[in-house]
Amino acid sequence: MDLPAHGSNPARLYEKMNMEKPTQLIDFSVNVNPFGPPPAISKQWGSWLSVVSDYPDPAGKSVVRLLAGQNGVNESQVILGNGAAEIIQFLGQLWRGQQVVIVQPAFSEYETACRAYDCEIDFVFAEENGTLPVGDILIKAQEAAAIFICTPNNPSGVAFSEKEIMQLLDELQLTGCYVVIDEAFYDFAGSFTFASVLHKYPQLIVLRSLTKMYAIAGLRIGYLLASDAIAKQVARFRPHWNVNALALKAAEVVLADSSFADWTRQNIIEERKRMFEFLKQEGFHFTRSVVNFYLLRDPELEDQQPLFIFLLERGFVLRHTYNYPGLSGKWLRAAVKTKEENNKLKEALQQWKKQS
Ligand SMILES: Cc1ncc(COP(=O)(O)O)c(C=O)c1O
Repeated sequence: MDLPAHGSNPARLYEKMNMEKPTQLIDFSVNVNPFGPPPAISKQWGSWLSVVSDYPDPAGKSVVRLLAGQNGVNESQVILGNGAAEIIQFLGQLWRGQQVVIVQPAFSEYETACRAYDCEIDFVFAEENGTLPVGDILIKAQEAAAIFICTPNNPSGVAFSEKEIMQLLDELQLTGCYVVIDEAFYDFAGSFTFASVLHKYPQLIVLRSLTKMYAIAGLRIGYLLASDAIAKQVARFRPHWNVNALALKAAEVVLADSSFADWTRQNIIEERKRMFEFLKQEGFHFTRSVVNFYLLRDPELEDQQPLFIFLLERGFVLRHTYNYPGLSGKWLRAAVKTKEENNKLKEALQQWKKQS
Protein backbone atom coordinates (compact mmCIF):
# COMPACT_ATOMS: atom_id res chain seq x y z
CA MET A 1 0.00 0.00 0.00
CA ASP A 2 1.39 3.37 -1.03
CA LEU A 3 -0.16 5.42 1.78
CA PRO A 4 1.04 8.90 2.82
CA ALA A 5 4.20 8.61 4.94
CA HIS A 6 2.95 11.13 7.50
CA GLY A 7 -0.31 12.08 9.18
CA SER A 8 -2.21 15.30 8.49
CA ASN A 9 -2.92 14.51 4.84
CA PRO A 10 -6.52 13.17 4.72
CA ALA A 11 -7.23 14.08 1.08
CA ARG A 12 -4.29 12.02 -0.15
CA LEU A 13 -5.08 9.19 2.24
CA TYR A 14 -8.66 8.79 0.95
CA GLU A 15 -7.35 8.97 -2.61
CA LYS A 16 -4.74 6.28 -1.96
CA MET A 17 -7.29 4.10 -0.16
CA ASN A 18 -9.61 4.47 -3.17
CA MET A 19 -12.30 5.79 -0.87
CA GLU A 20 -14.60 8.76 -1.20
CA LYS A 21 -13.69 11.51 1.25
CA PRO A 22 -16.69 12.26 3.52
CA THR A 23 -17.75 15.93 3.58
CA GLN A 24 -17.17 16.05 7.32
CA LEU A 25 -14.11 14.54 8.85
CA ILE A 26 -11.96 14.81 11.96
CA ASP A 27 -8.25 14.40 11.48
CA PHE A 28 -6.89 12.33 14.36
CA SER A 29 -3.74 11.64 12.35
CA VAL A 30 -2.31 15.10 12.98
CA ASN A 31 -0.38 15.48 16.22
CA VAL A 32 -0.15 19.24 16.73
CA ASN A 33 -1.88 21.02 19.61
CA PRO A 34 -5.65 20.39 19.13
CA PHE A 35 -6.48 23.78 20.65
CA GLY A 36 -4.71 25.67 17.85
CA PRO A 37 -2.01 28.34 18.15
CA PRO A 38 -1.80 30.59 21.22
CA PRO A 39 -4.24 33.54 20.99
CA ALA A 40 -1.27 35.95 21.02
CA ILE A 41 -0.41 34.77 17.48
CA SER A 42 -3.74 35.77 15.94
CA LYS A 43 -3.71 39.01 17.95
CA GLN A 44 -0.34 40.06 16.56
CA TRP A 45 -0.54 38.47 13.12
CA GLY A 46 -1.78 41.64 11.37
CA SER A 47 1.12 43.69 12.67
CA TRP A 48 3.68 41.26 11.19
CA LEU A 49 2.91 42.10 7.55
CA SER A 50 5.72 44.66 7.54
CA VAL A 51 8.41 41.98 8.03
CA VAL A 52 7.59 39.98 4.90
CA SER A 53 9.16 42.40 2.40
CA ASP A 54 12.59 42.15 3.97
CA TYR A 55 14.95 39.20 4.53
CA PRO A 56 14.74 37.64 7.99
CA ASP A 57 17.68 37.82 10.38
CA PRO A 58 19.80 34.92 9.06
CA ALA A 59 20.91 34.01 12.58
CA GLY A 60 17.42 34.39 14.12
CA LYS A 61 19.25 36.07 17.02
CA SER A 62 16.16 37.13 19.00
CA VAL A 63 14.84 33.54 19.11
CA VAL A 64 18.26 31.96 19.67
CA ARG A 65 18.74 34.28 22.68
CA LEU A 66 15.40 33.22 24.17
CA LEU A 67 16.05 29.52 23.61
CA ALA A 68 19.56 29.68 25.04
CA GLY A 69 18.28 31.47 28.14
CA GLN A 70 15.41 29.05 28.67
CA ASN A 71 17.57 25.97 28.23
CA GLY A 72 20.61 27.13 30.18
CA VAL A 73 23.03 26.92 27.24
CA ASN A 74 25.14 29.41 25.28
CA GLU A 75 23.70 31.00 22.15
CA SER A 76 26.43 29.23 20.18
CA GLN A 77 24.83 25.90 21.19
CA VAL A 78 21.49 26.63 19.47
CA ILE A 79 20.85 26.02 15.75
CA LEU A 80 17.50 26.99 14.24
CA GLY A 81 15.89 24.95 11.50
CA ASN A 82 12.99 25.24 9.09
CA GLY A 83 11.23 22.84 11.40
CA ALA A 84 13.04 20.09 13.30
CA ALA A 85 12.64 18.16 10.03
CA GLU A 86 15.28 20.36 8.38
CA ILE A 87 17.70 19.75 11.23
CA ILE A 88 17.26 16.01 10.76
CA GLN A 89 18.41 16.56 7.16
CA PHE A 90 21.50 18.42 8.47
CA LEU A 91 22.28 15.45 10.70
CA GLY A 92 21.97 13.09 7.75
CA GLN A 93 24.54 15.27 5.95
CA LEU A 94 26.78 15.33 9.00
CA TRP A 95 26.97 11.54 9.06
CA ARG A 96 26.98 11.09 5.27
CA GLY A 97 27.98 7.55 4.31
CA GLN A 98 28.49 6.50 7.93
CA GLN A 99 26.63 3.99 10.05
CA VAL A 100 23.65 5.21 12.09
CA VAL A 101 21.31 3.34 14.42
CA ILE A 102 17.62 4.22 14.74
CA VAL A 103 15.56 3.06 17.71
CA GLN A 104 12.30 1.98 16.07
CA PRO A 105 9.43 2.60 15.86
CA ALA A 106 10.21 6.28 15.33
CA PHE A 107 9.59 9.36 13.20
CA SER A 108 10.31 8.23 9.66
CA GLU A 109 12.36 11.28 8.66
CA TYR A 110 15.48 9.96 10.45
CA GLU A 111 15.61 7.09 8.02
CA THR A 112 14.63 9.21 5.01
CA ALA A 113 17.30 11.83 5.74
CA CYS A 114 20.01 9.29 6.48
CA ARG A 115 19.18 7.35 3.30
CA ALA A 116 19.39 10.56 1.27
CA TYR A 117 23.00 10.89 2.44
CA ASP A 118 23.88 7.23 1.88
CA CYS A 119 24.22 6.35 5.54
CA GLU A 120 24.27 2.70 6.48
CA ILE A 121 21.19 2.26 8.63
CA ASP A 122 20.64 -0.24 11.40
CA PHE A 123 17.48 -0.57 13.46
CA VAL A 124 16.93 -1.66 17.03
CA PHE A 125 13.40 -2.19 18.29
CA ALA A 126 11.84 -0.80 21.44
CA GLU A 127 8.67 -2.36 22.78
CA GLU A 128 5.40 -0.44 22.49
CA ASN A 129 5.32 -0.10 26.29
CA GLY A 130 8.59 1.84 26.15
CA THR A 131 11.24 -0.72 27.11
CA LEU A 132 14.51 0.28 25.44
CA PRO A 133 16.74 -2.49 24.05
CA VAL A 134 19.78 -1.13 25.89
CA GLY A 135 21.99 -4.18 25.32
CA ASP A 136 21.23 -4.24 21.59
CA ILE A 137 21.86 -0.52 21.25
CA LEU A 138 25.21 -0.79 22.98
CA ILE A 139 26.33 -3.56 20.64
CA LYS A 140 25.21 -1.78 17.45
CA ALA A 141 26.46 1.62 18.59
CA GLN A 142 30.03 0.30 18.87
CA GLU A 143 30.48 0.84 15.14
CA ALA A 144 28.00 3.67 14.62
CA ALA A 145 28.51 7.39 14.12
CA ALA A 146 25.17 8.18 15.75
CA ILE A 147 22.01 6.84 17.24
CA PHE A 148 18.52 8.39 17.01
CA ILE A 149 16.11 8.06 19.95
CA CYS A 150 12.69 9.72 19.91
CA THR A 151 11.34 10.33 23.43
CA PRO A 152 8.54 10.93 24.20
CA ASN A 153 8.22 8.58 21.29
CA ASN A 154 6.38 9.22 18.06
CA PRO A 155 4.32 7.08 17.40
CA SER A 156 3.71 5.43 20.80
CA GLY A 157 3.67 8.60 22.94
CA VAL A 158 5.57 6.70 25.63
CA ALA A 159 8.63 8.24 27.34
CA PHE A 160 11.66 5.97 27.55
CA SER A 161 13.35 5.54 30.92
CA GLU A 162 15.64 8.49 31.69
CA LYS A 163 17.85 6.16 33.69
CA GLU A 164 18.39 3.83 30.71
CA ILE A 165 19.15 6.72 28.38
CA MET A 166 21.63 8.10 30.93
CA GLN A 167 23.23 4.66 31.04
CA LEU A 168 23.53 4.74 27.24
CA LEU A 169 25.04 8.22 27.33
CA ASP A 170 27.57 7.11 29.93
CA GLU A 171 28.59 4.00 28.05
CA LEU A 172 28.64 5.62 24.61
CA GLN A 173 30.94 8.37 25.79
CA LEU A 174 33.75 5.88 25.31
CA THR A 175 32.84 5.01 21.72
CA GLY A 176 32.29 8.58 20.50
CA CYS A 177 28.86 7.68 19.11
CA TYR A 178 26.58 10.73 18.98
CA VAL A 179 23.18 10.37 20.65
CA VAL A 180 20.28 12.32 19.13
CA ILE A 181 17.35 12.68 21.49
CA ASP A 182 14.32 14.00 19.61
CA GLU A 183 12.18 15.89 22.11
CA ALA A 184 9.68 17.30 19.60
CA PHE A 185 6.85 16.46 22.04
CA TYR A 186 8.61 16.95 25.39
CA ASP A 187 6.53 20.00 26.32
CA PHE A 188 3.28 17.97 26.16
CA ALA A 189 4.75 15.70 28.85
CA GLY A 190 6.16 18.61 30.84
CA SER A 191 8.75 16.35 32.32
CA PHE A 192 12.49 15.96 32.38
CA THR A 193 14.51 17.20 29.42
CA PHE A 194 17.88 15.89 28.27
CA ALA A 195 18.88 19.51 27.63
CA SER A 196 19.65 19.63 31.36
CA VAL A 197 22.57 17.19 30.92
CA LEU A 198 24.07 18.67 27.76
CA HIS A 199 27.00 20.02 29.79
CA LYS A 200 27.86 16.48 30.91
CA TYR A 201 27.70 14.69 27.58
CA PRO A 202 29.58 16.28 24.65
CA GLN A 203 28.10 13.73 22.24
CA LEU A 204 24.46 14.52 23.10
CA ILE A 205 22.21 16.33 20.59
CA VAL A 206 18.71 17.44 21.60
CA LEU A 207 16.15 18.17 18.89
CA ARG A 208 13.06 20.26 19.51
CA SER A 209 10.13 21.56 17.49
CA LEU A 210 7.96 24.61 18.05
CA THR A 211 5.36 23.44 15.54
CA LYS A 212 3.69 20.82 17.77
CA MET A 213 2.89 22.56 21.05
CA TYR A 214 2.18 25.89 19.35
CA ALA A 215 0.26 24.50 16.36
CA ILE A 216 2.39 26.45 13.87
CA ALA A 217 3.34 23.53 11.63
CA GLY A 218 2.74 25.71 8.54
CA LEU A 219 5.27 28.29 9.73
CA ARG A 220 8.12 25.76 10.19
CA ILE A 221 10.53 26.27 13.06
CA GLY A 222 12.52 23.88 15.21
CA TYR A 223 15.96 23.80 16.78
CA LEU A 224 18.91 21.79 17.94
CA LEU A 225 20.77 22.08 21.24
CA ALA A 226 24.25 20.60 21.42
CA SER A 227 27.86 21.29 22.34
CA ASP A 228 29.57 24.26 20.67
CA ALA A 229 31.59 21.86 18.54
CA ILE A 230 28.58 19.95 17.17
CA ALA A 231 26.54 23.12 16.68
CA LYS A 232 29.39 24.58 14.64
CA GLN A 233 29.55 21.53 12.39
CA VAL A 234 25.78 21.43 11.86
CA ALA A 235 25.64 25.19 11.15
CA ARG A 236 27.70 24.61 7.96
CA PHE A 237 24.68 22.95 6.34
CA ARG A 238 22.23 25.67 7.28
CA PRO A 239 21.02 27.66 4.26
CA HIS A 240 21.08 31.40 4.76
CA TRP A 241 17.63 32.71 5.85
CA ASN A 242 16.38 29.16 6.47
CA VAL A 243 13.83 30.34 9.05
CA ASN A 244 11.33 32.84 7.73
CA ALA A 245 10.47 36.14 9.36
CA LEU A 246 6.92 35.16 10.37
CA ALA A 247 8.17 31.99 12.07
CA LEU A 248 10.72 34.06 14.00
CA LYS A 249 8.01 36.53 15.08
CA ALA A 250 5.73 33.70 16.17
CA ALA A 251 8.55 31.99 18.07
CA GLU A 252 9.37 35.20 19.96
CA VAL A 253 5.74 35.46 21.05
CA VAL A 254 5.16 31.83 22.06
CA LEU A 255 8.44 31.48 23.93
CA ALA A 256 7.72 34.56 26.01
CA ASP A 257 4.69 33.01 27.72
CA SER A 258 4.70 29.55 29.31
CA SER A 259 1.05 29.67 30.41
CA PHE A 260 -0.30 28.40 27.08
CA ALA A 261 1.83 25.25 27.23
CA ASP A 262 0.85 24.68 30.88
CA TRP A 263 -2.85 25.10 30.06
CA THR A 264 -2.56 22.78 27.03
CA ARG A 265 -0.75 20.11 29.03
CA GLN A 266 -3.44 20.13 31.72
CA ASN A 267 -6.24 19.78 29.17
CA ILE A 268 -4.44 17.02 27.29
CA ILE A 269 -3.85 15.09 30.53
CA GLU A 270 -7.58 15.20 31.34
CA GLU A 271 -8.70 14.20 27.85
CA ARG A 272 -6.13 11.45 27.56
CA LYS A 273 -7.25 10.02 30.89
CA ARG A 274 -10.89 10.01 29.74
CA MET A 275 -9.94 8.30 26.46
CA PHE A 276 -7.83 5.67 28.23
CA GLU A 277 -10.63 4.85 30.67
CA PHE A 278 -12.98 4.39 27.73
CA LEU A 279 -10.53 2.28 25.72
CA LYS A 280 -9.88 0.03 28.69
CA GLN A 281 -13.58 -0.42 29.33
CA GLU A 282 -14.22 -1.31 25.67
CA GLY A 283 -11.35 -3.79 25.53
CA PHE A 284 -9.00 -1.88 23.20
CA HIS A 285 -5.27 -2.03 23.80
CA PHE A 286 -3.39 1.26 23.99
CA THR A 287 0.07 2.60 24.80
CA ARG A 288 0.69 4.51 28.07
CA SER A 289 1.33 7.76 26.30
CA VAL A 290 2.46 10.88 28.17
CA VAL A 291 1.71 13.23 25.27
CA ASN A 292 -1.01 14.29 22.82
CA PHE A 293 -1.34 11.02 20.86
CA TYR A 294 -1.28 7.32 21.57
CA LEU A 295 -1.42 3.98 19.79
CA LEU A 296 -4.55 1.87 19.96
CA ARG A 297 -5.53 -1.53 18.64
CA ASP A 298 -8.39 -3.95 18.70
CA PRO A 299 -6.75 -7.10 20.10
CA GLU A 300 -9.08 -9.24 17.96
CA LEU A 301 -7.20 -8.05 14.85
CA GLU A 302 -3.57 -8.57 13.93
CA ASP A 303 -3.64 -5.99 11.12
CA GLN A 304 -5.88 -3.05 12.11
CA GLN A 305 -6.92 -2.29 8.53
CA PRO A 306 -10.62 -3.21 8.99
CA LEU A 307 -10.91 -0.79 11.92
CA PHE A 308 -8.92 1.86 10.02
CA ILE A 309 -11.34 1.61 7.07
CA PHE A 310 -14.43 1.51 9.32
CA LEU A 311 -13.31 4.79 10.89
CA LEU A 312 -12.32 6.39 7.57
CA GLU A 313 -15.78 5.62 6.18
CA ARG A 314 -17.26 7.57 9.10
CA GLY A 315 -14.89 10.53 8.69
CA PHE A 316 -12.39 9.62 11.45
CA VAL A 317 -8.88 9.76 10.09
CA LEU A 318 -6.36 7.91 12.25
CA ARG A 319 -2.70 7.47 11.43
CA HIS A 320 -1.84 4.10 9.89
CA THR A 321 1.37 2.45 11.11
CA TYR A 322 2.39 0.51 7.99
CA ASN A 323 5.54 2.58 7.54
CA TYR A 324 6.71 2.29 11.14
CA PRO A 325 9.18 -0.61 11.26
CA GLY A 326 8.13 -2.92 14.08
CA LEU A 327 4.47 -1.85 14.01
CA SER A 328 3.51 -2.69 10.39
CA GLY A 329 -0.20 -1.94 10.73
CA LYS A 330 -0.68 -3.68 14.07
CA TRP A 331 -1.62 -0.38 15.71
CA LEU A 332 -3.34 2.88 14.79
CA ARG A 333 -2.17 6.23 16.12
CA ALA A 334 -4.79 8.66 17.37
CA ALA A 335 -4.38 12.24 18.53
CA VAL A 336 -5.83 13.45 21.82
CA LYS A 337 -8.12 16.18 20.57
CA THR A 338 -10.83 18.38 22.08
CA LYS A 339 -13.45 16.83 24.35
CA GLU A 340 -16.13 17.10 21.66
CA GLU A 341 -13.94 15.46 19.02
CA ASN A 342 -12.77 12.72 21.38
CA ASN A 343 -16.40 11.97 22.28
CA LYS A 344 -17.21 11.51 18.59
CA LEU A 345 -14.32 9.06 18.23
CA LYS A 346 -15.56 7.19 21.29
CA GLU A 347 -19.00 6.80 19.71
CA ALA A 348 -17.46 5.46 16.49
CA LEU A 349 -15.28 2.99 18.41
CA GLN A 350 -18.32 1.84 20.37
CA GLN A 351 -20.17 1.23 17.08
CA TRP A 352 -17.20 -0.80 15.87
CA LYS A 353 -17.28 -2.96 18.97
CA LYS A 354 -21.03 -3.52 18.62
CA GLN A 355 -20.83 -4.67 15.01
CA SER A 356 -17.64 -6.72 15.28
C1 LIG B 1 9.26 13.12 16.51
C2 LIG B 1 9.26 14.25 15.53
N1 LIG B 1 10.36 14.96 15.36
C3 LIG B 1 10.40 15.99 14.51
C4 LIG B 1 9.31 16.32 13.75
C5 LIG B 1 9.39 17.47 12.80
O1 LIG B 1 8.78 18.60 13.34
P1 LIG B 1 8.80 19.98 12.61
O2 LIG B 1 7.40 20.34 12.30
O3 LIG B 1 9.43 20.93 13.61
O4 LIG B 1 9.64 19.84 11.39
C6 LIG B 1 8.13 15.60 13.87
C7 LIG B 1 6.94 15.91 13.07
O5 LIG B 1 5.97 15.18 13.01
C8 LIG B 1 8.10 14.53 14.80
O6 LIG B 1 7.00 13.77 14.97
